[in-house]
Amino acid sequence: MQPIEALGKRLFFENISDPSRMSCATCHAPNTGGTYNVSGVNLHQVAVTGARPHLRPKDLAEGEEKTTLKNAGGLKPPTNQYVSFIHENEAKGLKSLQLARLGPCGIFPCGGAFWNGRANGDIVQNTNLIFNANDASGQKKGFYTKYLGPLADQAFASPFLNPVEQNHKSKEDVCSQVESTAWGKELYYLAWGVDLTCQSEAESATAFARFAVALAAWQMSEDNNRFNSKRDIALAEDDNQQFPLNGLTDLENEGHDLFYGPARCSICHNSNGANGTHPLERYTDDSYHAIGVPRNYELPGSPLPDIGLHSTLINLGLNPDANDLPFPPFSVQNAFVGAHKTPTLRNVDLRPGKGFTKAYAHNGWFKSLESIVHFYNTSDVAGETAALFGVVRCPDGIVTEKDALANNCWPEPEIPNAPLLTIGGVTGDLGLTAHQEAAIVAYLKTLTDTTIVEAPKPYKTSSKPQKQGKK
Ligand code: HEC
Ligand code: HEC
Repeated sequence: MQPIEALGKRLFFENISDPSRMSCATCHAPNTGGTYNVSGVNLHQVAVTGARPHLRPKDLAEGEEKTTLKNAGGLKPPTNQYVSFIHENEAKGLKSLQLARLGPCGIFPCGGAFWNGRANGDIVQNTNLIFNANDASGQKKGFYTKYLGPLADQAFASPFLNPVEQNHKSKEDVCSQVESTAWGKELYYLAWGVDLTCQSEAESATAFARFAVALAAWQMSEDNNRFNSKRDIALAEDDNQQFPLNGLTDLENEGHDLFYGPARCSICHNSNGANGTHPLERYTDDSYHAIGVPRNYELPGSPLPDIGLHSTLINLGLNPDANDLPFPPFSVQNAFVGAHKTPTLRNVDLRPGKGFTKAYAHNGWFKSLESIVHFYNTSDVAGETAALFGVVRCPDGIVTEKDALANNCWPEPEIPNAPLLTIGGVTGDLGLTAHQEAAIVAYLKTLTDTTIVEAPKPYKTSSKPQKQGKK
């Protein structure tokens, strides 16, 4: 592992928080494929409680209302795996947020990290803090520039400082906590060729930005993106590398054909052409769509519907209300309200045990692959497929997935009139049988890595071991 990756891995797994009890890996746990590994939370609250569970009123900033107190965010942790990676010296995946008319995703915006894309890929780069031409860090430019982008921006955003996440008060505090460890000082020096120092605000700001680059480097590494799922192995070992693959069951192969055919999943969950045989397929178009997920009233504080990409467009200075968007078919009012990033489907079924519940979609409303696939098939309650299954719109008061399934109904979408809602068009009325739904689920389960990322072992200093102080 390269020193920059080793530093990033430590930063990811150590409890760098106030109090020191939460790491990136708390919310992006390897044994659930980079998302939360507490079943009961996934089942109800979904959002993960931050390092300090109870914010006390005296912590309020001046003028802040008590009612804004929250100890958890309002979204499901998406996986941090297969977001972007470097494979055999080739960078794959996430690019900066593109809004051009004919970008890599055609007329759709794409790129950027977070459910709404706000880690747009330029943020760390624009700090100009990473490479200093006057010291050894400047010599790293040629090697590390590939790590600048949405993943670094995401870490810079930053979970370390977010009061509902790792809750550090300042970059100085983050820098100091890392500086107080043997791994922090040593790995930082190995990675950057300069000492980690947190004496001033400026020094801490530099270190903090470089931590973000290191986090990106590890998250882009082969350690975090293994490409060794049942599907990958079957594909590599297949005689002609075409589906049906000898190494998959009939049901799994059937699921593949549906995914790339009548079920239309590959319209969005596809990064490398239409037939699904690319070894590095990521199962996402890196773009943003509204698929009509119902509102999750069980999130802490029952936040208002999440408007997704729309908020990022506003923050980038575009005015979606004034038809400011550069692509005519979508220059309708509020075109991207409710559009969320298409997540990768790799490791979507990775879980610690059989009875373990994972939550799906940005607000975690769905609790199983079976139910989200059934939703794609029948969510257009006016459609023929819904009629065949007897699925209707839920009456008021039926809001959870459990109650909806029990009553054979779907609640209305979180944002009912989202202009780009795919229900009734691309999704929602797929005409699949129950057997075909099961085949798609079986196929999704072949995308689970066969080995799991391991947390780093307790750190051994690379130089002379330090004397352990007794307490
Ligand atoms: C308290 C839980 C929590 C912690 C701690 C946390 N995250 Fe996250 N992470 C989330 C949530 C929730 C989101 C989605 C937020 C959004 O989209 O606005 C997210 C989003 C991300 C994404 C974006 C993935 C994508 O496809 O767009 C990455 C990458 C990521 N986190 C990495 C990290 C790193 C690195 C750290 C540590 C520095 C970290 N996270 C700490 C909960 C957490
Ligand atoms: C129009 C684009 C589109 C199509 C078509 C589509 N998806 Fe999705 N998919 C998305 C988006 C966008 C999300 C996230 C939605 C949200 O969070 O609001 C998503 C979420 C998911 C998730 C949840 C993943 C997670 O980590 O939370 C699964 C599983 C999934 N899709 C599977 C499928 C399958 C299977 C099909 C075909 C039956 C399909 N999708 C068709 C865009 C699409």
